[in-house]
This record gives sequence, structure tokens and C-alpha cells, in this order.
Amino acid sequence: MDGVIESSAASGPHDPPAPPPVPVVPDKPTSASRITLSHIMSAHDTNLLGTVHGGVVMKLVDDAAGAVAGRHSEGPAVTGAMDEMAFLEPVRVGDLLHVKAQVNWTGTTSMEIGVRVVAERWNESGPAQQVASAYLVFVAVDAEGKPRPVPQVVPETDRDRRRWQEAQIRRTHRLARRRAIVELRRQRAAEGLDD
Ligand SMILES: CC(C)(COP(=O)(O)OP(=O)(O)OC[C@H]1O[C@@H](n2cnc3c(N)ncnc32)[C@H](O)[C@@H]1OP(=O)(O)O)[C@@H](O)C(=O)NCCC(=O)NCCS
Repeated sequence: MDGVIESSAASGPHDPPAPPPVPVVPDKPTSASRITLSHIMSAHDTNLLGTVHGGVVMKLVDDAAGAVAGRHSEGPAVTGAMDEMAFLEPVRVGDLLHVKAQVNWTGTTSMEIGVRVVAERWNESGPAQQVASAYLVFVAVDAEGKPRPVPQVVPETDRDRRRWQEAQIRRTHRLARRRAIVELRRQRAAEGLDD
């Protein structure tokens, strides 16, 4: 049968019932879900300075990363964390933004999506300029909103492999930071500090 590993042991009449089949989630290459979302900035997108609001760029980043996560995991996925959002250059009305996103790393149910935002200036013909970057963790979920397994991503190029290694470092730091904060709060609560 496609999609499951059959239990290999033959069962007799007095054997315990066979365990449920383990779903197989085949690996997928990075290129299978990589996307570019393009958008022209309008006057509705500006802040008080007349440049594009950071939140507008963040929404596009989340949209692109969500599309990649859905394609890679072949189902719904939610934003679990967004970190290292960097705004490198201002974006202006009329600029054509290209939001490039790919799966950098996969865990059991989570994926790190790397996003790079480049702008083609409305009044220049030079090469597109990088204006922002971000790393997001998406968690694939089932119909009840519970985490579900994701295919392992298979990096295809040296750059993909470097991104996978860097994502693994970020993952280690994220988990360590979360553990340290949980432990600090536990200690403070144990000392009766109520904040
Ligand atoms: C994301 C969510 C599904 C995680 O659920 P959970 O019960 O905490 O799941 P788990 O603890 O089993 O963690 C599942 C995976 O997510 C990862 N994860 C969970 N919280 C994370 C965080 N803050 N940062 C990074 N990774 C995180 C875990 O490491 C784990 O990864 P792995 O399976 O690859 O090892 C849940 O918190 C949720 O539904 N959040 C709301 C998401 C949402 O609505 N987003 C839209 C923004 S409004």
C-alpha cells in the first residue's frame, strides 16, 4: 500500500494486535517548494515618513513563508515563530518587491523557512537590492491543529547545505533560550516573586 510501512511480523491467533502502520512521509528537495512572491508597493503601504511600513513587508514575508510551508508539508502549517527579521534598506512606493522563500531545515513537525526580500526600484534599472531577510518556524498541523510530521528537506546545492547548517544552529539557540527563560521563571515563581 502507498504511504504506509506494513508491519513485517506475521501474526498468529494469540499474538497481540499489530501496531498501527507508521505513515511514511517521503523526503523532498528544497526546490520542490521554493517560491518568489512579487508585489508592487502602493501609497496604502507607507508609514509617516513616506517609506513602506515594516509591518507590510512582514506580512508579505509571512505569506511567502506560509506558501512554502504548505507546499513542502502538503497541508496546513501555522507560524510558530518569526525571528531575525532584518530591515536592511528602505522600500518606497512603486518599488517592485520580490519575496523569495525556501525551506532551510526540517525537524519532526517544524520547518525553518528562510526569506530574502529584494527590491527593484521603480526609478532605476540596476540590479535588485536586498532590503530585508527573516527566518520563520512553521509547524505543520492536522485538522485538529495538532503538529503532524513533515517530509525531511533534502538540500540540493552548497548554498542549501550552508542554510541547513545555519538553521540547525538557530534551532539549537532557540530551544536553549526558551529552556533558560522557562527555568528562570520557574525559579522566580519558587521564590514567591509575583510579576
Ligand atoms: C505552533 C503550535 C502548533 C505548536 O504546538 P505545540 O503543542 O507547542 O507543539 P510542540 O511542543 O509539540 O512542538 C511542535 C514543533 O514546533 C516547534 N516549536 C514549537 N514552538 C516553537 C517556537 N516558539 N519556536 C520554535 N519552534 C517551536 C517544536 O520544537 C516542535 O518541532 P519539531 O517537531 O520539529 O521538533 C501551537 O503553539 C500553535 O498552534 N500556535 C499558534 C500558531 C498560530 O496560530 N500562528 C498564526 C499566528 S496568529
